[in-house]
Amino acid sequence: MMTTVLRRAILTAAGSEGLRNIVENVPFSRDVVRRFVGGASATEAVGAAAGLAGQGLRVTIDHLGEDTTNRADAEATRDAYLNLLTQLDESGLTAGGKVEVSVKLSAVGQSLGPDGPAVATDFAHQICSSAAEVGTTVTIDMEDHTTTDSTLATIKELRQDFPWVGAVLQAYLYRTEGDCKDLAGPGSRVRLCKGAYREPESVAYQSSQDVAKSYVRCMSILMAGQGYPMLATHDPRLIEIGGSLAAKNHRAAGSFEYQMLFGIRPDEQNRLAGLGETVRVYLPYGSQWYGYLMRRMAEKPANTMLFLRALSSRK
Ligand code: FDA
Repeated sequence: MMTTVLRRAILTAAGSEGLRNIVENVPFSRDVVRRFVGGASATEAVGAAAGLAGQGLRVTIDHLGEDTTNRADAEATRDAYLNLLTQLDESGLTAGGKVEVSVKLSAVGQSLGPDGPAVATDFAHQICSSAAEVGTTVTIDMEDHTTTDSTLATIKELRQDFPWVGAVLQAYLYRTEGDCKDLAGPGSRVRLCKGAYREPESVAYQSSQDVAKSYVRCMSILMAGQGYPMLATHDPRLIEIGGSLAAKNHRAAGSFEYQMLFGIRPDEQNRLAGLGETVRVYLPYGSQWYGYLMRRMAEKPANTMLFLRALSSRK
């Protein structure tokens, strides 16, 4: 209950211009920002990805830039991904999908009026073509519930040319068990997460217990299916249940993967990888890291204390 209140307070504060100014004026190099963000530039992100790959982890890189309000911004985001994929290829990181990219359709134009979804599909298609050329994959992030249908329609279209395009489903939405059934077919890459947006009771479970129960139901469907489930959670209980479901469904290591965010539970990431499991780290980068950082604060109030301490330190 307390956590929910704090989470809402942080998400509200995140919209405050004053707070934004303070946070953005913290030098980027401050440890706490670097703990969650791979860098401000593609070159820094590629360096961070190489470090993770060297530890036996897989990576999915997200270019931060969610508030795309015109076509030029959407083009710039697309170009950032094309440049990133070229740099990853040059560093030998893309083979076999070792390092892939995650794309938010809102960042490539989805919300630009009636033509937005078509623009986003077109730009995402170009990113997928480039990923195919360098031998890796793309996962399309899921955003708030008003975009779910449009995002799934784009994924369906992209999969006609690139069957490996990953979808994301959010366990907090009532609809998601049904979407899991629809997307559990052969080869279907589906990332299952709890969901990060503030959603109304009309569409989403509100309590953490109900969200966790839904996660288990959704995970059971995906793990029993014929696709490639990507279990995106830091929740120890859910990770344990994921392991049990893998055993129950005779899933060998490599027929599904665990995913966690950069900087969150790194010891657990290494522990699972050490057991031979496939673990992929979601690595965000870019100059627009503020909104991302605020969402991480809201999820784990302890992170906020860490951040506030860093703000007040002179290090
Ligand atoms: P939650 O935050 O409820 O934490 C559960 C437990 O995990 C905690 O009680 C604690 O034990 C442990 N834990 C969590 N954080 C910890 C920390 N910092 N240190 C130690 N222990 C910690 N969302 C979305 O809407 N669309 C998307 O496309 C994506 N994509 C995505 C990709 C990947 C790879 C991940 C991991 C997550 C996403 N998300 C997302 C975010 C997701 O929806 C969710 O908001 C966060 O993962 C937090 O939920 P958890 O399942 O980790 O549990």
